[in-house]
Amino acid sequence: MSHEHHNSQKDHEKHPILVGVAWPYANGKIHLGHVAGSLLSPDIFARYHRMIGNDVLMISGSDEHGTPITVRAEEEGRTPQDIVDLYHKQTKKDLSSLWIDFDLFTRTTHPNHHSVVKDMFTTLYNQDYIYPKTTSELFCTECVKFLPDRYVTGTCPFCNKENARGDQCDECGKTYNAIELLTPACKICGSIPVPRETEHFFFRLPAFSDRLLTFLEDKDHWKSRVRNFTRNWIVEGLKDRPITRDISWGVPVPITGYESKRIYVWFDAVTGYLAASKQWASDVKGDPDAWKHFWLNPLTRSYYFLGKDNVPFHTIIWPSMLIGYSEGKHEQYDIPYDVPANEYLRLGGIKFTKSGGIGVDVASFMETYRSDEVRYYLSIIMPENRDVDFDMDEFRTHINNELVATFGNFIHRVLSFTSNNYEKFPKAGELSEVDRKAISEIREAGDRISNFIKKCEFKNGIKEIMALAAYGNRYLGERAPWHLLKTDRDACGTVLNTGLRIVKALSIFTYPYLPESMEHLQKYLGQIDQSSWETASSDFTGKQYAMSLTKPTPLFRVLEDPNKKDTRKEREMTNNKDGKQIVSKKKHKKKKKTIVAQPIDLEQVDLRVGTVLSATDHPNADKLYVFSIDVGDPEPRTLVAGLRAHYTPEELEGRNLVIVCNLKPAKLRGVVSQGMLLAAGSDDKVVFLTPGKDHPVGTPITGSSNTSRSLLSEITIDSFFSIQMSTRKIVSIVDGIATFDNGSTTAKGPKLNKALIQDDSVVVIANGQILLCENEPIYPERSIGPDASIR
Ligand code: MF3
Ligand code: ZN
Repeated sequence: MSHEHHNSQKDHEKHPILVGVAWPYANGKIHLGHVAGSLLSPDIFARYHRMIGNDVLMISGSDEHGTPITVRAEEEGRTPQDIVDLYHKQTKKDLSSLWIDFDLFTRTTHPNHHSVVKDMFTTLYNQDYIYPKTTSELFCTECVKFLPDRYVTGTCPFCNKENARGDQCDECGKTYNAIELLTPACKICGSIPVPRETEHFFFRLPAFSDRLLTFLEDKDHWKSRVRNFTRNWIVEGLKDRPITRDISWGVPVPITGYESKRIYVWFDAVTGYLAASKQWASDVKGDPDAWKHFWLNPLTRSYYFLGKDNVPFHTIIWPSMLIGYSEGKHEQYDIPYDVPANEYLRLGGIKFTKSGGIGVDVASFMETYRSDEVRYYLSIIMPENRDVDFDMDEFRTHINNELVATFGNFIHRVLSFTSNNYEKFPKAGELSEVDRKAISEIREAGDRISNFIKKCEFKNGIKEIMALAAYGNRYLGERAPWHLLKTDRDACGTVLNTGLRIVKALSIFTYPYLPESMEHLQKYLGQIDQSSWETASSDFTGKQYAMSLTKPTPLFRVLEDPNKKDTRKEREMTNNKDGKQIVSKKKHKKKKKTIVAQPIDLEQVDLRVGTVLSATDHPNADKLYVFSIDVGDPEPRTLVAGLRAHYTPEELEGRNLVIVCNLKPAKLRGVVSQGMLLAAGSDDKVVFLTPGKDHPVGTPITGSSNTSRSLLSEITIDSFFSIQMSTRKIVSIVDGIATFDNGSTTAKGPKLNKALIQDDSVVVIANGQILLCENEPIYPERSIGPDASIR
């Protein structure tokens, strides 16, 4: 309690927010692991803080020095400069394709960076935190050179992992000096290096132990893994660390007599945060002192976003450097406030690279996918507290089921229903209890999302956003504006107004996560004030009410499995090339006609709640209607069905039906029907089946045995009718098993609730199961006896 109070009091003060992002090495293309590990969350965080009015400085750049670069250059037979020029450019392009925006994304080869690093080195040297010492380093007699860091591989001295890198072990996360490796080998020629004496500069890390422990004391808001890892490192005993190398690529040591040595890449890279801030001040802001607002300001909160292997550099080494530097400069430089390091996105499932031809590097991935598809998926699975596997199928499922079917669908339902029926945004009349609840729901959701983002719990934040969209869908279902449209146009306007306000709030709350699509949406809504997080639920402005509405375009698209498409295409291609195969294709077709329909299970049928948007007469058939039906996809479906002799369009519009959504599309008298609605018929009476009005569009309809669905991508009409369906009356439910009027019973599955029996009501059974929607039975819309057939 008191802790919360303390926090909220602090929040009244304005904190400048410094957002440091781990500098990607410019030795290759950045991949989705970088994005999930360190690049996406700071962008969400920075966008959010800008929206709520904080001063934010977000900086990083390419890490262009060190052995990761020189080893790569040697492997490719190019100069290090060539390599970094190429990849720095590529990284910048990749970042902007993902809408990851920095105030400055610079590079460590920049002259400003060199001079700030030299100043850092000299200042710490003058404070006697850095000193030279003769030491032994590995030397390759074949290559005739010292082998720092990644020029060596060997066995990790801490966890015995073989083939560990020369600077840090991937397995246990420990960092060490190459000379500590067991059984070292030269990365370039493979020979066994020998220790040889050389002089290097060392950083007196142990001098900071106590101050580091004090610094950790009030870091309750850190992830416990980061805090524990850091504390253990310190408690186990810090050691003086060599911070120079015998190589020729990097920032030269600024001490006379040592000009041929280079500053170690990590000492150099972390100093980049300060260097980039200074460069931003002069080059971007045009005020050379502007960096001080973020660095010499006790109110500043600096956040550093990085993957777990970078933790000690940001929680031990960088803070120590800053503390020592502050002493030398007689000024207090801000040390990290939080280091919300992520675990890894594992690309172990790299197999899809080969099979699908899709790379996991950002550049290749973005050839096929859109920024917000990637941002959504990586947000919802973000490896915040444990490693997470990247999975292509899961990627599509998250997009299709959540981003498209819940979030996008809600927005599109509201916008298209409004623009179809109103010229302008309808104003709210008197609000009902339900409408008022919706408005307060927006406010509460906004607070929850806000709190999660502030605490760097980005996965929770996006989940709250999805929950608000799902709430919106339920709200629409409950208020059913399609009914009100005919009976009470003003009340319908009030509902749409509230729906639009949920949409508007979503466009604000979701902006940090999905900036590209939310920008589109905000344009459609007419200039949304992004800085209005607190008042996101408020009414539209006069200007917005005055706009003429246009037809909205869906914000998101359904992702298909490219592997499936490819094999289909491939098959067609080989058939065309080879005459014999064309013959066999024809044969196959013929055979298909004569074979009996493949029987299928109910679990394989995609039955969903669909709402009738419109029913119009079929142009070429006087018994048929052409329906437009919302089944929860971004686009409504066209369905052809023969209800014309039984219902008027008015009796159908706005009603919820049961739709078979994975039926092979079929042309009916010239119009393609993308599915089928279910009806019950006996003699010449036909009534449609319905779940009632309370279930949101797209809700699955399943059998009472509760087996999880395993939908087929497409079923034929014949296989659909292999399922035995009819209406039945439930006579009794004993021990959870229902007995029907014809003596048959439900067999397997969970116990049925007695509440399913309602006075002489008739239910629909399919293969012995009762059809249910959210645990309530589907029923015929008008009374019809038991034993009616389903068609
Ligand atoms: N280049 C390093 C890596 O990719 C990260 C450097 S982060 C910095 O692991 F802060 F030190 F720059
Ligand atoms: Zn060698």
